[in-house]
Amino acid sequence: MLRQAGDVTDLQNRPDTAGGLMISRTTSSVSGAVQVSPFLAPSRGGLYRRRRTSRPGEVNLKSTGLLDPRAAALHRRTLQALDPVDVLTYPVLGGVYTTLAARMGVAPESLVLTAGSDPGLGLLVRAFPTATRIVTHHPTYQGWDKFAHLGNCRIDGVPPDPGTGRFVLADLGTRLEQGPPAFVVVTQPHSLTGQFHEADELAALADTVTGRGSLLVVDTAYLAFTDGGEELVRDIMGRPGVVRVNSFSKCYGLSGARIGVIATDPETACHLFDIDAEGSVSATALALLDASLRRHDVFEEIWADVRRLRGDLARRVEECRPGWRARPSGANFVTFDVPGAAEAAAATAFLYDQGYVVRDLSGLPSLPAAVRIAVADHQVVDRVVELLGGWRHEPAG
Ligand SMILES: Cc1ncc(COP(=O)(O)O)c(C=O)c1O
Repeated sequence: MLRQAGDVTDLQNRPDTAGGLMISRTTSSVSGAVQVSPFLAPSRGGLYRRRRTSRPGEVNLKSTGLLDPRAAALHRRTLQALDPVDVLTYPVLGGVYTTLAARMGVAPESLVLTAGSDPGLGLLVRAFPTATRIVTHHPTYQGWDKFAHLGNCRIDGVPPDPGTGRFVLADLGTRLEQGPPAFVVVTQPHSLTGQFHEADELAALADTVTGRGSLLVVDTAYLAFTDGGEELVRDIMGRPGVVRVNSFSKCYGLSGARIGVIATDPETACHLFDIDAEGSVSATALALLDASLRRHDVFEEIWADVRRLRGDLARRVEECRPGWRARPSGANFVTFDVPGAAEAAAATAFLYDQGYVVRDLSGLPSLPAAVRIAVADHQVVDRVVELLGGWRHEPAG
């Protein structure tokens, strides 16, 4: 990019900072004209750098991974059986696409594997650069803030119904109609509250969204834990203008392997391959996914147990903690509304000190005081209930 000297001075004087450090924009002079390097992009101060650490023995009930010994045993066997040739050579994806397509009941051409569903969300915003708006319920999964920023999109957040506190899909359609075509994002079930939507509500939204030249993105990270979950999205799958983003982090316990899939119509899938031609999925992640798909029975059993344990956790915490109310959940966690934000913070800190990390959601719109606790196995549920039952909250002052 060529600029005049005046423009450069202007850039140099702009007070961009990164983590408190001024960014220096070095320039070079070539035969009188001043060139600004295209590689000196301003950083956001490492905002998206992951800084999480963990303590030995800590149980993470905040990130909602599938903490189940049966899943762990299956993955251990897969890793032990991994042929080093698969690591010495580039991954071969065809077989997994076929198995996955059969499992999902779609054509292999409509699937795009990604290294987790987050890269899938990033791929979508890169694939449609002219879209500048993301219509979604607010609050929602925080990943969207990041990808909205990266895709130069604005989040057009739609609050829950003020009367019931529940999210209404038709409200997304109404908001869409008030502006230009957009990504319309539904998390089914919702990643903070566990609320899920019925099939007819979703089909009606798909009609509105596709009818307005927009894209309906359905994030099904937690759908495996919803009773009859697949039936809730079956009608809309594969429709042009509808994209399902499905993480395998939660349902198959593959958070650390980094693998997810986008399921859409073949034409859109083809466009996504054009943007991300090399793909980003490792052979190790493919092997873990392939084995999980083949042992679906193991996971069906785990998901059924999670549903049962979710009910136990909700009931037992309501019994032992006066004023705590569990929201109905279709996910592998329970979100409790609690008597005050101070109590939510104190409970979260107490559990943290005991080695259990949970998520304090207090202060998010429609969640003035709330704690989200993931469901692991029954020992963990028992221990969390025991800890909360024995805990006394002493309000400050
Ligand atoms: C709703 C939702 N979508 C996507 C993701 C990211 O999934 P992945 O691990 O596949 O990137 C998460 C992770 O917590 C999530 O809650």
